[in-house]
Amino acid sequence: MLRVVNIKKTFPVDQGAQVNALKGVSIDVPDGEFFTLLGPSGSGKSTAMRCIAGLEHPDEGEIYIGEQCVFSSKRKIMVPPDERPIGMVFQSYAIWPHMDVFHNVAFPLMYGSSGPKPSKEEIRNSVDEALKLVQLSGYGDRPATQLSGGQQQRVALARAIVRRPRLLLLDEPLSNLDAKLREEMRVEMKEMTTKLGMTSFFVTHDQIEALALSDRIAVIMQGEIVEMGRPHDVYTKSDNKLVAAFLGTTNTLEGQITGTGSDTKLETEIGALTLGARQNMTTSGRASVAIRPEAVDCLRENPGSGANVYQGTVKRTMFLGTFIDGEVQIGSKSLRVSFNPYNTFSPGEKVFVRIPPERCQLID
Ligand SMILES: Nc1ncnc2c1ncn2[C@@H]1O[C@H](COP(=O)(O)OP(=O)(O)OP(=O)(O)O)[C@@H](O)[C@H]1O
Ligand SMILES: [Mg+2]
Repeated sequence: MLRVVNIKKTFPVDQGAQVNALKGVSIDVPDGEFFTLLGPSGSGKSTAMRCIAGLEHPDEGEIYIGEQCVFSSKRKIMVPPDERPIGMVFQSYAIWPHMDVFHNVAFPLMYGSSGPKPSKEEIRNSVDEALKLVQLSGYGDRPATQLSGGQQQRVALARAIVRRPRLLLLDEPLSNLDAKLREEMRVEMKEMTTKLGMTSFFVTHDQIEALALSDRIAVIMQGEIVEMGRPHDVYTKSDNKLVAAFLGTTNTLEGQITGTGSDTKLETEIGALTLGARQNMTTSGRASVAIRPEAVDCLRENPGSGANVYQGTVKRTMFLGTFIDGEVQIGSKSLRVSFNPYNTFSPGEKVFVRIPPERCQLID
């Protein structure tokens, strides 16, 4: 549905220097997928989206939406934004304050593409339908200025889908909303795009949002895609140190590899850590593993058998509602852990820490 092939984009900055905002980005998004481009600030997310939208002219590469080539540097193709089958929502709501809700949503139908203009009745029907989808039925006459932040964002969403584009481009559309509203809108947005069978290209720096919404995630750093996959795999299996760290809190243990096959171990500060059999594993030398706080089981009783059980002392705890963030000291190493909120441990308490081998992510 969307195919981005080796897009490069540089921006000139002062004194002849330039920023390599995109260093050869390729993305393939199948029909109906909710795809997220996730990365830190300045990594090139908006630039990538603006290239797809036609708001930015890439230096090199090709972009296809469906069968249509909308950009090609070699063939000198550059289809203007309003002739691409896309809808867009940006971080700033960008709805027109001097218009009511109806006219904001109707705008792309009235002034959008070339080709035949729809009739008044067709416009009314399309706008009503779009407002219904974002749960703003009956708000058509409201001046845009009399809407809450969440409602304004819904209007922007309605405007983006009113032409039923094949591709919806969303650049941090929820970042101006408060936490609760953001969560609600995120669910609604996902439900709506699924219902309409729209392909979505979503841009965010928020890991939770990306993990929650996406069929697939690409992590972009400094203009390059460094990881791509399903949320669960990207979170639990990435072998990229920067990705593992960016996607959440993580512990890193380093050491010497010993043993082979299912008996492969890493000699670390907390003791020998069994890693088990893995693909593409170096059988000697030094290695690092990332271990997420929630991958660590903390137990009062010694589980007896089983790999990777260590004795430690609870160093600190902080109640955060859905879990307790804590640290456990094992020898000279302090390990970040997540305790179950119903199983309260106190600082100073002795615990048994268990780290299942399959939860250790080998990283570069
Ligand atoms: N018009 C421009 N002129 C010069 N440099 C630019 C321009 N637009 C973007 N850049 C630079 O390109 C890089 C990527 O910017 P981009 O806006 O794509 O980042 P982003 O990932 O969207 O960041 P954020 O999460 O902060 O929105 C940055 O270093 C930025 O300063
Ligand atoms: Mg941006």
